[in-house]
Amino acid sequence: MIADVIVDLQYGDCGKGKVSHYLCEKNNYTHVLRYNGGGNAGHTIYHHGKKFVTHYLPSGVFWGVKSVIGSGCVVHPDKFLKEIEDLSAAGLNVSHIKIARNCHIVTDEYLELDKANDVVGTTRTGNGEAYSRKYARTGIRAESIAAFKPFLIDLMEEWQTNPDPVVLCEGAQGYGLDIDWGDYPYVTSSHCTVPGALLNGIPHTAIRDVWGVAKVYETYVGAKSFEGDDPRLKQLRELGEEYGATTGRPRQCGWINLDLLQRAIWANGVNKLVFNKLDILRELGSWHAVSGGELLSFQNETEFKQCLIDSVSQTSPTCEVIFSESPLTV
Ligand code: IMP
Ligand code: MG
Repeated sequence: MIADVIVDLQYGDCGKGKVSHYLCEKNNYTHVLRYNGGGNAGHTIYHHGKKFVTHYLPSGVFWGVKSVIGSGCVVHPDKFLKEIEDLSAAGLNVSHIKIARNCHIVTDEYLELDKANDVVGTTRTGNGEAYSRKYARTGIRAESIAAFKPFLIDLMEEWQTNPDPVVLCEGAQGYGLDIDWGDYPYVTSSHCTVPGALLNGIPHTAIRDVWGVAKVYETYVGAKSFEGDDPRLKQLRELGEEYGATTGRPRQCGWINLDLLQRAIWANGVNKLVFNKLDILRELGSWHAVSGGELLSFQNETEFKQCLIDSVSQTSPTCEVIFSESPLTV
């Protein structure tokens, strides 16, 4: 078995969907696996020039590759079925979609509780509640939902009965929102790192490439104050169209934090890294990063890029670094 993993190195919304879409076209995967999160995620993908936003389904669905919702995910049945319906109506082949029998579900009651109890600025999609119940052993698994019967698989069986599985593992959210390594309690309720992918019945020996995805600046959505009052950050939000794909909320913007970046590279064992939205920072025309709590300033794009490359190679010396300047491709 071979597994490539895509991880977000910041606070989600770094462009994993785009990277996944690109890798899916380039490599011959037998499966694409969503390994954590639920309806809180929003992946924006341009497929043959048309914009799609998915919440559950990984990019394999655009290429007719078997697309699996893993055991690390939580799913609201009606919303999930609606997403399939919508993609089908848009002309996509939705016949290869599968759900791990042991993935947990979100009920309408959880949505209400999420709304009522929220203090960290959640997406109100019932995630915290679903994972709470999973770990309290009072949750509901996909295998007990009648409407899910046609989609169910056992991941262990799936990996073992396929002669040569090559799986692209596509995560949701990111290192800065990880339940263990994010800024608790301002985090999501699942594991957003490579170990989170492995929890889906994947042996660690299967891992080939770990694709880290970051932006050349940061964004965060939620209740903590993140942005600071530099007016250029507001400008960045408009230039980068930094509004939530799930909730429409404005994302708070910040300069790239190299300490967070290095921790995320380390924890995930990243060996390929895509920095997205260089075109946006170029439009803004300001080149900054934060390191050890200090604001670093650069004369130009070349200096800025070199600093990022140096930061990456300090942590992962052989890591390949790609700067992307387009929402359409890597
Ligand atoms: P929850 O995952 O809905 O419980 O939200 C917890 C925190 O994670 C909030 O700050 C959300 O805004 C943030 N969050 C959850 N999913 C995403 C995502 O896909 N992108 C960006 N932020 C997210
Ligand atoms: Mg998103």
